[in-house]
Amino acid sequence: MELHGPIGVFDSGYGGLTVLAELRAKLPQHDFLYFGDNARAPYGNRSFDVVYEFTLEAVKFLFDQGCPLVILACNTASAKALRTIQQKDLPQIAPNNRVLGVIRPSTEVLGERTKSGHVGILGTVGTINSGSYPIELAKFAPTVEVHQHACPMWVPLIENQQYEHQAGRLFIEEDIHAIMGRHAAIDTILLACTHYPVLKQQIEALVGPKVQVVAQGAIVAEKLKDYLVAHPEIEQRLTKTAKTSYYTSEAPHVFDQKASYFLKQEVTSKHHSF
Ligand code: DGL
Repeated sequence: MELHGPIGVFDSGYGGLTVLAELRAKLPQHDFLYFGDNARAPYGNRSFDVVYEFTLEAVKFLFDQGCPLVILACNTASAKALRTIQQKDLPQIAPNNRVLGVIRPSTEVLGERTKSGHVGILGTVGTINSGSYPIELAKFAPTVEVHQHACPMWVPLIENQQYEHQAGRLFIEEDIHAIMGRHAAIDTILLACTHYPVLKQQIEALVGPKVQVVAQGAIVAEKLKDYLVAHPEIEQRLTKTAKTSYYTSEAPHVFDQKASYFLKQEVTSKHHSF
C-alpha cells in the first residue's frame, strides 16, 4: 500500500524555512515535514558528489517518514543533485514518489519580470558554478541576459545571525557593488539561495528602487499548487491536518532557537543524523 503523509521540505540549513513559510501560506491545510541538515551546512562550497550524497540521504529519510513528495528547498541541492535523484535513484527507491526543486519554477517566471532584459542571479558557489540558471533560463527566456555572482560568505553570515553586524554588512555591500558595478542594466535580481530572503531589505536598500529583488518562496509555492492540481495521484496521498514538524541533524535546542527566529514562531524539532 502506498504511504500517505506530509510534504517533505529539505534544505542544508535554515534557508528552506523561507520556502516553507510560503508553502504553508499557500497550502494551509497540508502537512509539512522540514528537515534541515544543519550539522553539515553549508553545502554551497562542497563538491558535486558530496552534495548529491547528502541530499539523497535526506530524501530517503523523508521518504521513510512517509512523505510522498519532497521539495528540495535548496538551490545548491537542486543544482547538483535533483536531476540524478529524479532520473537514477527515484525509479529504484520509490518510483511513485516525487522530488521537486526550486530552480525550474524560478526560471519559468523570471523572464516575465525583467523589462531591461538583464537579470542578476545571486547564489552559492555551487549553484553559480553549476550553470543551472543560465541553462534553464535559456529555455524559458532565451533573449534574457543572465549575470551571475556567487556570494560565498552570505550563508555562514545568515546561519550565524551575523548579517546585521558591521562586518557582515560589508560583505553584503561588496557583493552587491560587484555585480551592479559590472552590469548596470540589471533591473531584476533573483535571490537564488533560499537563505537570502533574510537579506532582502538590506539588498533593496543597496540597489535602490529601480531594481526589483525577487525571493523564490512565493514562486515555488504558486508552482507547487499548480503541480498538485495537475497530479492528483500525488495530491491524494498528502495528509491535510495543517501540521508542520521539524527534524534537524544539529542539536534540537540549537535548531529550535534559530528556526524560531527565522519563522517568528515557536519551533520544536527532533534529532536525526546519518
Ligand atoms: N539554502 C541553500 C541554497 O539555496 C544554501 C546552500 C548552502 O548550504 O550553502 O543554496
